[in-house]
Amino acid sequence: MVSLGEYCLEYQWEEKFSTGDEAIDLQHKTVFELSNAFLQAHDKDQLERTLAKLLDYVKQHFAYEEALMAQMYMVDHEEHTLSHALLVERLEILRGRLSHDSLDRMELTLFLNHWTSSHIPRLDANLVECLRLCETRRGDLLGS
Ligand SMILES: [Fe+2]
Ligand SMILES: [Fe+2]
Repeated sequence: MVSLGEYCLEYQWEEKFSTGDEAIDLQHKTVFELSNAFLQAHDKDQLERTLAKLLDYVKQHFAYEEALMAQMYMVDHEEHTLSHALLVERLEILRGRLSHDSLDRMELTLFLNHWTSSHIPRLDANLVECLRLCETRRGDLLGS
């Protein structure tokens, strides 16, 4: 997926990141697109604008998942929410560095690596599984 190093200009979405939920996968792909826009920015102004967009979108996406979890009273709700907070913190660190003129794009790589290798396959996959089960139960109720 994410190739490490300063010379990486584009992060590639891979099918293995799919959770099977269309809405969530689409949002995850948008995070990749916004990450690439940041990575390809040429000046400080562009870097700041693309990072602000990425951060806003990531927060929106996390809020979306947290709202779904709240509806389903999931057991790992707290752990999942904490993981979101830590991921946001990583992007905030990046923004802090940028404002001090010391950009380290590696922080974005760390964010994406953790998000795709640990968060999506475990926590987001659990969420999607719960959504699927809830749909099945709802279907059962409608059918009975
Ligand atoms: Fe998540
Ligand atoms: Fe997610």
